[in-house]
Amino acid sequence: TSVLSVASEVFPLIKTGGLADVAGALPLALGQVGVEVTTLLPAYPSVLSGLEGASAVAAIDDLFGGPARVLRAEVAGLALLLLDAPHLFDRPGGPYVGANGYDHPDNWARFAALGRVGALVGTGLVPGYRPDIVHAHDWQAALAPVYLEHLGADRPRTAITIHNLAFQGAFPQTIFAGLGLPPEAWGVDGVEYYGSVGFLKGGLRASDRITTVSPNYAREILTAEGGMGLDGLLRGREDRLSGIVNGIDVATWDPDRDPHVAATFDRDTLFRRVLNKRALEAEFALEEDDTPLLAVVSRLTWQKGLDILAESCDEIVASGCRLAVVGSGDRLLEGAFLSAAARHSGRMGVRIGYDEVLSHKVQAGADALLVPSRFEPCGLTQLYALRYGCMPVVSRVGGLADTVIDANFAAQTAGVATGIIFAPVTREALMEGVQRLLTLYADAPLWRDMQRTAMASDVSWTASARRYADLYQSLVEERP
Ligand code: ADP
Ligand code: GLC
Repeated sequence: TSVLSVASEVFPLIKTGGLADVAGALPLALGQVGVEVTTLLPAYPSVLSGLEGASAVAAIDDLFGGPARVLRAEVAGLALLLLDAPHLFDRPGGPYVGANGYDHPDNWARFAALGRVGALVGTGLVPGYRPDIVHAHDWQAALAPVYLEHLGADRPRTAITIHNLAFQGAFPQTIFAGLGLPPEAWGVDGVEYYGSVGFLKGGLRASDRITTVSPNYAREILTAEGGMGLDGLLRGREDRLSGIVNGIDVATWDPDRDPHVAATFDRDTLFRRVLNKRALEAEFALEEDDTPLLAVVSRLTWQKGLDILAESCDEIVASGCRLAVVGSGDRLLEGAFLSAAARHSGRMGVRIGYDEVLSHKVQAGADALLVPSRFEPCGLTQLYALRYGCMPVVSRVGGLADTVIDANFAAQTAGVATGIIFAPVTREALMEGVQRLLTLYADAPLWRDMQRTAMASDVSWTASARRYADLYQSLVEERP
């Protein structure tokens, strides 16, 4: 089977969140099970500057107002096609947000172009390449299956993965004319969504299969509370929907070979971990001691429940823990964490910004990772935490509930506990989770056993890559 994966971010080329990790790691894992994946991604400036030996394999005279080329390259074992359209992608700022902090005003055209070219590549734009399946990720790629629907009979099969239903790519109705879709694409069976153009909505309608990134989130999005307005559509297509839990790249995230940490370690050399804790204390100007060091590595947003953590900082410090926060996002939250850290210097440290290397140091040195998300399609940081023996303390939502085994009495007795799960997402429940953590931490042999169990969890892509391969296979078999 050959698959064209279409995504707006791909690690290690460009990353704002977990989507990039998945779009970068899944192709490698699929390669191991005989699925050949090529990834189409926009040629942002930072992506272009990191390329060597890219060659143009197709050209388009007018793609949403300017010329475009498709470049072929290989980076970090990934077969890539890059959409080089300078009028859309050659500009400062991030992939979605401009240097001024606001969304690029033409995001609709930028990502319609990505979808359009995904569809064109799917139907033979690049000589000698014809994928069996086009697999779109999130709203930014969601028009690929929509365009394919209108490109005639000989089209590849399509799949779309929801990484986050909160981001739907909704734009004013006025952009519809610019999309180059036939008039019948406007309507409840097309891209129309409560009077707007909904990229994700259109993609969910048009795709042959829908997946999301954990089984539990696949159930949650069928409900009014979790469906963010799309639950009706999703319930109608439930037979096409499945949840496949994310894995992580266990080579990039390997405590025994991690070049970014002060001391590497494995399950049998956990005693070395304390060296990373000391390094982390130094990094965050924290007092050196053996009290639990809790950490956060996250976008600072409402989704992640970090407003609740921000309100709990005083209590957490009073309970005897220390806290290190790495993140960026919501200005109010950034401010709340900074002022809490100022109140508790030596007991709490904050780093505002995005720092991949520091995120490795945190996983390797902190005792526990806090993830109090209000909703979480899968979540990757708790998977890194498991692998690094950093106890995840997570809310019982989405993929968090699918990947962490709560240290309740039965799980402790059976020796299978890998973390702490709390519910609901309130300050009281979070603090109860922290109290339970303190109790476990005080029992050193038990704590070490839990770390070892966590580190033995299978967080690799192996099992899930098989599931994607099976899904692709079922699609190819039903080809008309
Ligand atoms: P989401 O995609 O919703 O942000 P995930 O847990 O799936 O959540 O993925 C987040 C990814 O981004 C992880 O790889 C995490 O380590 C990384 N990350 C988030 N914030 C930061 C940060 N401030 N510095 C470094 N890495 C970060
Ligand atoms: C999204 C979700 C996160 C998930 C990631 C990768 O950003 O918020 O839960 O892990 O995508 O699938």
